[in-house]
Amino acid sequence: MDRLLVTGGAGFIGSNFVHHALAHTEANVTVLDKLTYAASEASLEGLPSDRVSLVVGDVADDTLVDRLVAEHDAVVHFAAESHNDNSLDDPSPFIRTNLLGTFALLEAVRKSGVRFHHVSTDEVYGDLDLDDPKRFTEDTPYNPSSPYSASKAGSDHLVRAWVRSFGVQATISNCSNNYGPWQHVEKFIPRQITNVARGDRPKVYGDGMNVRDWIHTEDHSSAVLAILQRGTIGETYLVGADGERSNLEVVRAILRHFGRNEDDIEFVRDRAGHDRRYAIESGKLRSELGWQPRYEDFDAGLAATIEWYLAHEDWWAGVKAATEATYAAKGQ
Ligand code: NAD
Ligand code: DAU
Repeated sequence: MDRLLVTGGAGFIGSNFVHHALAHTEANVTVLDKLTYAASEASLEGLPSDRVSLVVGDVADDTLVDRLVAEHDAVVHFAAESHNDNSLDDPSPFIRTNLLGTFALLEAVRKSGVRFHHVSTDEVYGDLDLDDPKRFTEDTPYNPSSPYSASKAGSDHLVRAWVRSFGVQATISNCSNNYGPWQHVEKFIPRQITNVARGDRPKVYGDGMNVRDWIHTEDHSSAVLAILQRGTIGETYLVGADGERSNLEVVRAILRHFGRNEDDIEFVRDRAGHDRRYAIESGKLRSELGWQPRYEDFDAGLAATIEWYLAHEDWWAGVKAATEATYAAKGQ
């Protein structure tokens, strides 16, 4: 796989993956990205120009996608509309990019025979009760809650159908909540870090007891690379690092890091249809592909992420005020 096409490679997880792939393989990388509000070309700065190029375009543009896919050995598909809250305000770009974009890519790999890896989410499985002893596995039935997770579930179903009906060379990964550098300040952890850094209170939805299973984005990248290199065609792999924390636990850890009172929290209007808990059982990925997370200590990973945001205020300051104004207009 000398030539990788990475869709959404200017977004949070995609850009971290591009850095990882350059460091751990000999491949050259083409990023296909529409450069939506969620993208940042700065996240690709400093990478060797003889190994990385950026094509600004839409994954739902089938003419462009057919041409680009045929020029590569493998596609890693990160591009998506990714924020649940936005999907509640306007689902239409989620349907277009997440469903029609994945459809265009599948048709392109069907024609060219190029290897395809589809990056998806644990949200396709719905949610768990707080006291449920079970975690999500590859056999958990699909039960998405939001327009975002429904569009991702639909895209997974397209990939599965294209494998079975047309024999496309595809794998799927469903990962839990990522944190780390280059994540947009609309998302929970960067929003709270940057609120506290500015002297504001963290804004927590509902009662704050919702649980997410946090994984450092570097560990997500190594999992995707392992699946691309050693995964079995047609298989799904769940990716997680045993990082379950309630939202309250996370904001209290951020407040402690800044030496602030742990209870200095603002509870705001809850998200409609808010999933209670996600939890991943990643035994298949570990036993079959030998994958292990490197960031097993969430508190250390969170501390490093806080320090990254403090050192890169120039990266997030420009979009912070507008992001907060949008939330404030919704009572959040
Ligand atoms: P992000 O919103 O930070 O980045 C998405 C990128 O896709 C952006 O660069 C954007 O410009 C690009 N994009 C959007 N629409 C496009 C289009 N039509 N054509 C081309 N490019 C387009 O998202 P993220 O958090 O990095 O998520 C990346 C992928 O990982 C998504 O598929 C998401 O569902 C999945 N995922 C995310 C998480 C998480 O915790 N963030 C966890 C599991 C899976
Ligand atoms: O589980 C994987 C998913 O994780 C990915 O598929 C999504 O792309 C990604 O955005 C993320 O979805 P969540 O909805 O879990 O992430 P978010 O950062 O929006 O919220 C995390 C939790 O924090 C959730 O319970 C909602 C809550 N929250 C969020 C924000 C932005 C707050 O309490 N306050 C906030 O300000």
